[in-house]
Order: sequence, then structure tokens, then C-alpha cells
Amino acid sequence: MGFMDGKRGLIVGIANERSFAYSIAESLLREGAECLFTHLPGDKMERRVRRSIDALGVEDPWLRPLDASSDEDIEAVFKTIGEEFGQIDFLVHSIAYADKDWLQPGRFAATPREVFTQAMDISAYTYAAMAHHAAPLMTEGGSMIALSYYGAEKAVPGYNVMGVAKAALEATTRYLALELGEKNIRVNCVSGGPLRTMSAMAVGGFGEILDWVEQKAPLKRNIEGSDVGDCAAFLLSPLANGMTGQVIYVDSGFATVGL
Ligand SMILES: NC(=O)c1ccc[n+]([C@@H]2O[C@H](COP(=O)([O-])OP(=O)(O)OC[C@H]3O[C@@H](n4cnc5c(N)ncnc54)[C@H](O)[C@@H]3O)[C@@H](O)[C@H]2O)c1
Repeated sequence: MGFMDGKRGLIVGIANERSFAYSIAESLLREGAECLFTHLPGDKMERRVRRSIDALGVEDPWLRPLDASSDEDIEAVFKTIGEEFGQIDFLVHSIAYADKDWLQPGRFAATPREVFTQAMDISAYTYAAMAHHAAPLMTEGGSMIALSYYGAEKAVPGYNVMGVAKAALEATTRYLALELGEKNIRVNCVSGGPLRTMSAMAVGGFGEILDWVEQKAPLKRNIEGSDVGDCAAFLLSPLANGMTGQVIYVDSGFATVGL
């Protein structure tokens, strides 16, 4: 018996076995959930994501292409889910993007307009867009989460435009929570500590961020993917039925310390 028995949902954001979305899927599957997946369009991307899903032990996975910058792709994925399954219980939004040339210390003020806009679009707007299409499928109530980072709240060297996008993502969470609450759909964010994933490596000085957290965080260690995976599974489950509009830190306590 798992606390996600009988629950079905969509996970967006597995790139490989280091992805937060992979760890979230691992926890959800362990607790009995049925998981549907997407990959960035293209054969190479599909192969890579399929390998990770294989590693999760999911046989014959439901896997569809999705470029979240495309309204048509978002609409098509949820339409197909509606036709094939009729109803879902949860959504995991674990994607972000900003041009890495502008994720370097000292390169925020000069961020070009199109780089800024693209970061906001893929990293924040898409949570609202996916929620809009997922909500009608959550006929028995539902729960969704997105992944944020401390750089939304404080200026972290090198995080730059992504910090601005994460602040927008956290505000998006609260507005979605307010709007979808009466349908018994809960909307939250997990603010994860730094983890060496493909996206994270685009942030200049990421190694120093990891070292700093290890020294300063109350738990004196960096988080593991499974720390976020387990918290995410909890938030998506009935165990968190009274929680919505929240940003929950899974960061070894780093955000609670002044110096
Ligand atoms: N790694 C960290 O230190 C850290 C910390 C806190 C929050 N986060 C957040 O966690 C989430 C997942 O990132 P991750 O660290 O697991 O890295 P990751 O590189 O494994 O995952 C990022 C995912 O975003 C997807 N993506 C990018 N553009 C997309 C688009 N247009 N359409 C669809 N998918 C797209 C990629 O395909 C990839 O699967 C992101 O929101 C990230 O900002 C990461």
C-alpha cells in the first residue's frame, strides 16, 4: 500500500537520471502512482528520456513529445491524456530554461530582452499554461507542483534572469492556488537546494554554491534528488490535503540561516 495508490498524473521534465523529475517519479512510483511522461521533441531526446524511464522500471510507458514553448504542444498533450484516460490527479512541472551565456556573475543588467522573455516564458508562464489545461482533467480534485530555487527570493551570483523567472513562478503558484482552490486543486512549489543536474551546470559558479551550502546549511550537506522526490510525492498526495499556494524549501535548511 502506497499513499499514491490509484493516483495518475503527468511528469514534465525528465532529461536524465539526475533530473529532479526523475527522483520525483521514483518516489511517486514507489508510492503506487501511475506516471505519464513527456520528452523534448526529437528522436535523440526521446531515446534519452526513454532510457531513464526504463531505469525507473516502467514498462510500456506513456511518453509524448512536448516543447513547452509551443501552445499547440501543450494543448495536444493534455487533449490526448483526456481522450485516453479521462481524468488525472497530479501534474509535475520540472522545467526551466535560460540562455547560459547570461547565467554568469556580473551579467544580469545586460540581459537581452529576448533572453529575459524566453526565461520567463519557459520557466514561469508554462506552469500557468499547463495548469489551465490540466485543471479540467482533475475532475476529482488534484495537486500540482513546480520546482523553484532560493534565487527567487535572494540575489544569488550567476542565477540572474533565472532568479527573476523563479520569483514569477512562485507568484504564479499563489495565483493558480487562489483560482483553482474551489475545484479542490492544490498548487504548490518545492524550492530545491542546488543539485548537479544538466540545467544547474549552466549556472556560472555552481560548484561554489554547492560548497557554500555544505558549509552553511543547518544539515551541513547538500540535498539529494530523493529529498525533493519524497517531498514532492507528499505534496501531490492526500497527505497534504490542506496545503496550497506554498513554497516548501527542501534545501538542508539553507534558506533559514542569516549568515
Ligand atoms: N538543479 C538545481 O540545482 C535546481 C535547484 C532548484 C530548482 N531547480 C529546478 O528544477 C527543475 C528541473 O531542473 P533539473 O535541475 O532537474 O535539471 P534538468 O536539466 O534535469 O531538467 C530540466 C528539464 O527542463 C526541460 N525543458 C527545458 N526547456 C523545455 C521546453 N521548452 N519544453 C519542455 N521541457 C523543457 C529539459 O528538457 C529538462 O528535462 C527546473 O525548474 C530547475 O530550475 C533546479
